[in-house]
Amino acid sequence: MDLFEKVVSNPGPLGQFADAGYGYYYFPKLEGEISNHMFFRGKPVLVWSLNNYLGLANHPEVRRADTEAAEKFGLAAPMGARMMSGHTKYHEQLEQELAVFEKKEAAYLLNYGYMGMVSIIDSLLDRHDIVVYDSESHACILDGLRLHIGKRFVYPHNNMERFEFQIKHAQKSADQSGGGILVITEGVFGMPGDLGNLKGILRFKEKYGFRLLVDDAHGFGTMGITGAGTSEEQGVMDGVDIYFGTFAKAMAGIGAFVASEKRIIKSLAFKMRSQIFAKSLPMPMVIGSLKRLDLIRNHPELREKLWTNVHALQKGMREKGFDIGKTQSPVTPVFLKGGVGEATQIVADLRENYGIFCSVVIYPVVPKDVIMIRLIPTASHTMEDVKITIDAFSEIRTKLGEGKYSTGGIPPVADKY
Ligand SMILES: Cc1ncc(COP(=O)(O)O)c(C=O)c1O
Repeated sequence: MDLFEKVVSNPGPLGQFADAGYGYYYFPKLEGEISNHMFFRGKPVLVWSLNNYLGLANHPEVRRADTEAAEKFGLAAPMGARMMSGHTKYHEQLEQELAVFEKKEAAYLLNYGYMGMVSIIDSLLDRHDIVVYDSESHACILDGLRLHIGKRFVYPHNNMERFEFQIKHAQKSADQSGGGILVITEGVFGMPGDLGNLKGILRFKEKYGFRLLVDDAHGFGTMGITGAGTSEEQGVMDGVDIYFGTFAKAMAGIGAFVASEKRIIKSLAFKMRSQIFAKSLPMPMVIGSLKRLDLIRNHPELREKLWTNVHALQKGMREKGFDIGKTQSPVTPVFLKGGVGEATQIVADLRENYGIFCSVVIYPVVPKDVIMIRLIPTASHTMEDVKITIDAFSEIRTKLGEGKYSTGGIPPVADKY
């Protein structure tokens, strides 16, 4: 069979709707400066789908730091991978400041969180080692595990009884193979918004002897009294052996980092293939991240504003009887009953008639008869935005109940892939 014929005959779970939803449900173009108010297809929209948690994307000091660094160094600098020619005193400074912030001995920058996580897992493990991980782990964790040829045990999301069951298996296997055990969870789970039970996991640490890696992409900058993340929130910073955060969310940038003991960071720096064989983070992103970190540390009012908005939105939605699941973080899922056809019509109605832009999650990420609309409150939102949104959701729920969205199909949209 011709390979290309085979590829196009199997577009995959997302690609099957590529033509019908292009430019609207998939690859929508949000325009204007990043904020709570942007433009979609020429119309102003109230935006709830960006992880710009602290509103840093357009903070004047951030914009200035990014611009000045771009003017001084350009986007090319430094050229090459860190190990060869892409290392600078700014990269080192950012690593030192992140390590101090996370109360770890050392940190290392990663050029993308996704690639970094894949390589962290790959670098830590050999075929004798065993992994125990949460069933709802992000794709970067699952893809890192694809490279692992040793045993792995998965436990149902945050289920500590099953966790113990699996860690017992892992211990038995590790005793036989002579390997170690790595436990992996997220800090904040990005879809449901609940927290990884770090405290619960750590209760088993002494008994079963494992190392804990936490992907805190959504928790870094948003959770904990200083913004140091979910481990700080749960009072277990010491128990987390390897902490991972990205700059793509609360930091409103690109890049990521891993923090741990110095000997582990040193080992990772010499083993992570996605970093050794790829270009270093550009200077504006590094210098811009120093500014962002400075704002996170010294402007707690940004986090306070975020949480004021989070509480108003989540309390308001709950009071109106909406199911927002078990979120304990800014991530706010709204669960409604319906299929893909209804989901697409609701999203279109919200965008066209209420001027609200949010992302929808459908089967297979959630069960077939569930629609999950995910709202991301940020420090840039206002109480007015919250009220408009709760009112709009109340109306669409009524329409859903009246069967107004049950005509099926995807409403016509303009562009084709
Ligand atoms: C839990 C989690 N881990 C890792 C990543 C990847 O981070 P990055 O965007 O820096 O590649 C994301 C981003 O979507 C995420 O949500």
